[in-house]
Amino acid sequence: MQSKVHIMDHPLITHKITMLRDENTKTKDFRQLVYEIALLMGYEATKDLALRDVEITTPMMKTTQKALDTKVAIVPILRAGLGMIDGVLALIPSAKSGHIGLYRDHETLQPVEYYCKLPPDIAERDVIVVDPMLATGGSAAAAMSFIKKRGGKNFKLMCIIAAPEGIRAMQEKHPDVDIYCGTVDEKLNENGYILPGLGDAGDRIFGTL
Ligand code: PRP
Ligand code: URA
Repeated sequence: MQSKVHIMDHPLITHKITMLRDENTKTKDFRQLVYEIALLMGYEATKDLALRDVEITTPMMKTTQKALDTKVAIVPILRAGLGMIDGVLALIPSAKSGHIGLYRDHETLQPVEYYCKLPPDIAERDVIVVDPMLATGGSAAAAMSFIKKRGGKNFKLMCIIAAPEGIRAMQEKHPDVDIYCGTVDEKLNENGYILPGLGDAGDRIFGTL
């Protein structure tokens, strides 16, 4: 099995990512752009949600129509993933949220877990893990493993900028998880930052630069 990589090169997404990358984009606009990109990407990434027949009555007649047949969980990887959650929730207000707290150790680049709280029925939900950056892939891969350990089965990963190294790592460790990204950048630098990238996503969202 090989996971699919969906690159969402919609002009609006591409334009907004260019604005995100710009070092002159300030915290308030950065946060708003992350929200808007997550919403646009969420629209694309939910194209395959299952529908079921429902009976309703319009002002004119009874009719059988389609409604969502999928329970969704949105799981941001803290901190930066928090910036994407409202955009996806705007599309699927009934979704539940989980949270996974991970940070990359600056020396080893290995993810360190500090928090994990998921909806108890995670096994029955389509899980969308959100994080703006897929760099080495360590954080996303660890997040998937935590969710799998707690029963999660159906996953997607949504990230705004991915490095080829991160995509390869995810495909190796979690070939069942499709990846939805706004763009794939050139490579990582020696500190594990994406080039050209946008810098530190968490710091830019929360103004902790
Ligand atoms: C960033 C980003 C990802 C991770 C990606 O988080 O939001 O979670 O790095 O890097 P990786 O693919 O090499 O694991 P960071 O560790 O900086 O934490 P923060 O969101 O709290 O700033
Ligand atoms: N995390 C970030 O926030 N930015 C990168 O470029 C890599 C990891």
